[in-house]
Amino acid sequence: MDAASPASPSASSPPPPSPTAGASAVSPMTTISRHYFGGDSSEDDHDFYIDIIELGAGTSLPGLVAAKVGANVILTDNAEGVEVLKNMRQICNLNKVNCNILGLTWGQWDAPIFDLHPQIVLGADVFYDTTDQNVVEDFDNLFATVTFLLQNSPGSVFITTYHNRSGHHLIEFLMAKWGLKCSKLLDGFSIMPPCKAASLQGNIQLVEITLDNQKSKS
Ligand SMILES: C[S@@+](CC[C@H](N)C(=O)[O-])C[C@H]1O[C@@H](n2cnc3c(N)ncnc32)[C@H](O)[C@@H]1O
Repeated sequence: MDAASPASPSASSPPPPSPTAGASAVSPMTTISRHYFGGDSSEDDHDFYIDIIELGAGTSLPGLVAAKVGANVILTDNAEGVEVLKNMRQICNLNKVNCNILGLTWGQWDAPIFDLHPQIVLGADVFYDTTDQNVVEDFDNLFATVTFLLQNSPGSVFITTYHNRSGHHLIEFLMAKWGLKCSKLLDGFSIMPPCKAASLQGNIQLVEITLDNQKSKS
């Protein structure tokens, strides 16, 4: 993915659905939430907005914002998640942005991944600390894919949110394993409305992850 910096978001729901034509039209029963960016990020003062179809996964919001401000974006999700990939196509049409949609399963090496040379890999809510073994494997696979993309595109960065719900240190272990380093960009709670923060446990950070060149030399 190739992205630029978005302004701070605000959300309201549900706005009037925007009808789209053709096979990817959104059903009138679908709930849509509208998120405003730029200005004071309100309904009355904003540069643009993104409409999100709420299906519980794969909302693609960060990539849509990047596309809206001019980045060349490839949105990816699990190759087996046909419904999620379909949702992502609909949401691009709904927001009139032209992103490529690619089925890409973490830790699997299908042909298209070898052609990806992103400057910025964006992740949102793709991992959080847990002791569940399946999720540990998912994160290991996620870091395998991220490490491959960073190596395939020198100078690239992985920017993602990191929600530490459990207080465990899985991310530190995986970063050492894959030869990565992490720097904190900001504390999620510092930009979150208090009413939203009150319902969340642990801490949320926006972090930048890159190859740790010192480690790969040793
Ligand atoms: C909590 S959602 C966040 C989605 C999106 N970033 C957002 O902010 O709305 C986590 C996403 O990771 C995807 N995912 C989970 N396991 C995956 C895997 N093994 N390979 C690729 N994607 C996966 C899910 O399909 C889901 O869309």
